Parts: sequence; structure tokens; C-alpha cells
Amino acid sequence: MDIGTDHALVPSFAALRGTCERAVGVDLRPEPLRRARQTLRTLGVEGQVELVLGDGLGAVKEPEKTTVVIAGLSGKTMLSWCEKELETVRRLDKLVVQPNGHLSALRAWAYESGLWLLDERICQERDRFFVSCAFASRQGGDPAYENLPVSMQAGFELGPWLVRRGDPLASQCYLRERRRLAGLVGLGLAEHRELFAIYDGICSA
Ligand SMILES: C[S@@+](CC[C@H](N)C(=O)[O-])C[C@H]1O[C@@H](n2cnc3c(N)ncnc32)[C@H](O)[C@@H]1O
Repeated sequence: MDIGTDHALVPSFAALRGTCERAVGVDLRPEPLRRARQTLRTLGVEGQVELVLGDGLGAVKEPEKTTVVIAGLSGKTMLSWCEKELETVRRLDKLVVQPNGHLSALRAWAYESGLWLLDERICQERDRFFVSCAFASRQGGDPAYENLPVSMQAGFELGPWLVRRGDPLASQCYLRERRRLAGLVGLGLAEHRELFAIYDGICSA
């Protein structure tokens, strides 16, 4: 189930690849769903993708059987949806997010809420990096953060699996962020020092 589906590319892709039994695109507004219907027609997946008018995670009816994807919205919005529907999130088979910003807050929230970070991936489109994280409720401490070679705070910021793997694309992303933060610290903006130290640390490791 893709919430905030807009053009419905995510559920269409899932249907084309056959990665799920049933693909559903949810949006709050009728206009995106009209666009979504056009996508389904163009890609020939009308019979395989259901489109639903709904509000955030409130649209999930059978959490245990559902993987929810939320992509391309702000991390703050995702966090507010997840906080509001924590019990639904805990019951989901999996929650996959690709937020625009505030990913560290989402990772920290998930950790505090007993959700494990199962995996995370980074990709690049033109000059932008995008990180996706998969979470699910599990018992006990999250292995993603066990014996991490950086502090918890740095883990939330950088991504524990990306750090463990020494992901080369993540390294490029960290270098860029380090440069950006160095500029801000250089301008005397002391509030960016702590974050700069995290990126400086991982780039010098
Ligand atoms: C920026 S688009 C995201 C597009 C798509 N998910 C992607 O990754 O490219 C945000 C979409 O979320 C929808 N949206 C906003 N608030 C929503 C809510 N509470 N529930 C469901 N959809 C919502 C908007 O109508 C819009 O179509």
C-alpha cells in the first residue's frame, strides 16, 4: 500500500514486478487519483492496482498483511502520521519510508518505538541523494545499532546499515553534507557544529 501515491508509480511498479499479491495506492485528494488512473492505463496495470481515497495510515485496514510505503513527503509529515497511528505501524508487516529530510528523527522515533530498522538503501538521481528505510516491529534491541562504530546519535543521522556497509554512495553523500555544514560553521553558525562533527568523523574514518 502506497500512501500519498500521487501518480501511483510505486504500486504500478510493484504490480509490474509482481512483488505483491495486491497493490493499493492511497491519496487524500481526487485530483492525484485521476492522474494515478491515467498511469495505470498507460502501464496496463488497471486490473492489478486499486486506488483509494484515504487519509494517511488511517487507510490501512489489515496491518498484519500490509507493507506500507510512504515516499516523497517530508520526514516531519511522515513522523506525524506514524506518531498518530503508532499501533497500526507496530502491527504492519513492514513500513518503508523515503522521506525528504528529517530521516534522523524518523530513525530515532522508530528505535524508541520498538521498530527495527531492517534495511536501508541510498540512491542518487542527478545531484540528489535519496535514502529509503524499511522498519518493522520486533522484540528486543535493534541489531542495526548493536556494536555500531559510531555514537547512537551519529547512527540516527548517518544510517547504521549504510555506515556498516561502508556504502560508497553514502560516503559521497556524507562528504557533500560535511562540505555544506563546514560552510555554515565557517559563517559562525555554531548550532551546526555538532552535526558537522558527525559528518567530519565519518568522512575522516
Ligand atoms: C509529493 S507527493 C508524493 C508522491 C509520491 N509518493 C512519490 O514518491 O513520488 C504527496 C502526495 O501525498 C498526498 N497526501 C498528502 N496528505 C495526505 C494524506 N494525509 N493522506 C494521503 N495522501 C496524502 C498528496 O495529495 C500528494 O499526492
